[in-house]
Amino acid sequence: MELQKVIEARRTLKVMSDENILIRDIKSDVQKILEMGGKAPFHYIHPNSASKELKSLAPWRFYVLDGVSCRKLADYYIKNDIDGGKIIQMLRAAQTLIQVTWTPEIDGTNSEKVALQNIEHVAATAAAIQNMLLTATDLGYENYWSSGGTLRDVQFKSLLGIPEEEQLLGSIFIFDADTSSCKTKKGALKGRQGSVDDYTKQVVL
Ligand SMILES: Cc1cc2nc3c(=O)[nH]c(=O)nc-3n(C[C@H](O)[C@H](O)[C@H](O)COP(=O)(O)O)c2cc1C
Repeated sequence: MELQKVIEARRTLKVMSDENILIRDIKSDVQKILEMGGKAPFHYIHPNSASKELKSLAPWRFYVLDGVSCRKLADYYIKNDIDGGKIIQMLRAAQTLIQVTWTPEIDGTNSEKVALQNIEHVAATAAAIQNMLLTATDLGYENYWSSGGTLRDVQFKSLLGIPEEEQLLGSIFIFDADTSSCKTKKGALKGRQGSVDDYTKQVVL
């Protein structure tokens, strides 16, 4: 699809099912989504990147659960009596879940420089997520960027092997295009960005 068409077609769609949806092998599409995520711009090398298991200089990290692991995670919520709300139903419907994290730089002096670097780590990681949403849309998947809800809890970091110092920026759900057997819900703020004039001012000097 042409880039502008993909940008316009991208939408939040929560896809929910009480029953486990059939798992399809979408490995090569997920690989493409991850690859495109990793093409985002970034500004600062995290000072700890060399000492970690994942060694990219970029600030983002992706933890990927395939359909089987999504179903197992849904079962984990039930077994442990965790109130996951819609997350459980989405894990029954998802073909993939990508937990996207970044790592804050800790600075004892609270310097402005480090605060700005952390903002830019988040900005770069958000750009990576948007690349992934657009790629998923282009490949024909419904998708949803969630803040994570209960998936933010420390027990899920430990369960999914995410280092404790990493911060979750998004839980990215990838769903099939055919949602006919599921409940769906669009983003609450869909189409509410306004028009160009609502967020732009020409600067004339
Ligand atoms: C950083 C970020 C976090 C989000 N987290 C949630 C969330 O936790 N729950 C939710 O319902 N929507 C979440 N959304 C989706 C937005 O609500 C959605 O993008 C908005 O309603 C606009 O709809 P659209 O994505 O279809 O354009 C999030 C979006 C962003 C950018």
